[in-house]
Amino acid sequence: MHLGRTTLSKFLIQQLAGAGDQGKLAALLVDVAAAVKAISAMTAKGALGGFLGAIDQTNVQGEQQKKLDVLANDAMVTATEWGGLVAGLASEELDEPYVIPEGFARGPYLLVFDPLDGSSNTDVNVSVGTIFSVLKHDRDEAPATIDYLQPGASQVAAGYAIYGPATMLVLSVGQGTHGFTLDREIGNFILTHPNLAIPEDSSEFAINTSNARFWEPPVHRYVTECQAGKAGERGRDFNMRWIASMVAEVHRILMRGGVFMYPKDTKDPAKPGRLRLMYEANPIAMLIEQAGGAASTGRHRLLDLAPEQLHQRVPVILGSKNEVQRIVRYHAEYARGEDKPFVSPLFNERSLFRTQEFL
Ligand code: F6P
Ligand code: MN
Repeated sequence: MHLGRTTLSKFLIQQLAGAGDQGKLAALLVDVAAAVKAISAMTAKGALGGFLGAIDQTNVQGEQQKKLDVLANDAMVTATEWGGLVAGLASEELDEPYVIPEGFARGPYLLVFDPLDGSSNTDVNVSVGTIFSVLKHDRDEAPATIDYLQPGASQVAAGYAIYGPATMLVLSVGQGTHGFTLDREIGNFILTHPNLAIPEDSSEFAINTSNARFWEPPVHRYVTECQAGKAGERGRDFNMRWIASMVAEVHRILMRGGVFMYPKDTKDPAKPGRLRLMYEANPIAMLIEQAGGAASTGRHRLLDLAPEQLHQRVPVILGSKNEVQRIVRYHAEYARGEDKPFVSPLFNERSLFRTQEFL
């Protein structure tokens, strides 16, 4: 029995007992959890639910939408638009922010989300997730796009759900990062992983090495040293993982440490990274920092970036603090030209990599 254990509602009442709109934030997170339970049920049905496969439609990123992308998006909208808690919503699957319909009151928060992260994995029955970020909206007027463009450091809450062998909700309201496991029989999220703490050191990295020829020299340097293991600079062996589902990689890092990288590369000069700042990088960066880890573009702390566009992409390097700091140092040494001995001759044409240094 779970009586006496901490449910999500009890936890939120305890953590958000303060004045002002804190109670509304707790209520909003409970609504998000309701959507997450619905998405969990859909993903768990697999082929039996008739939800798998793509639809003949692309999103604003030019990616083909899966049926589940659209259904998960609808679940998030329907669960949160009605309660007078949000002033507006923005989603990876919607080109423009969602306007709260006439007839529903507007509230003090903006909810930004990736309804189904890693959705290419649904067809192969590998873990996927939902990522969300909550920002404040202090005006009575309906929000314009610019109101969403707040730095990650302004988030009042962030979290993700992971739909794996167990469904979990991991969230932060700025007082640590905490994990809840869905008890399917009772229908409650139970606090099972309070105060997550990422080990500062680690010997596990995650990167899509099929992009190696497009990486910048500091990323090459780091990965090459990891691969050299005991025989090289690092003096110990490293392990590598790549699930192609950011939520799943981040969850592993929160549980046992490691580094995740989707760095800046030269694959497509129009895209300074793969992941989206507002609803992937920022919420995950908050969870990672709140668990004692670090999150950077390689050049700047992710949470300090001033967003310019709702769907903007960004380089992401996050996880165990000492490893992330090392990669950031490699970027700085590269910028100062101090990394010559480590850089392969192929990558000595420095001017190739001098675009978009602001990131
Ligand atoms: O949403 C983007 C995403 O699906 C992440 O979840 C994942 O880390 C990444 O893309 C996978 O990228 P790739 O297809 O290059 O392996
Ligand atoms: Mn995603």
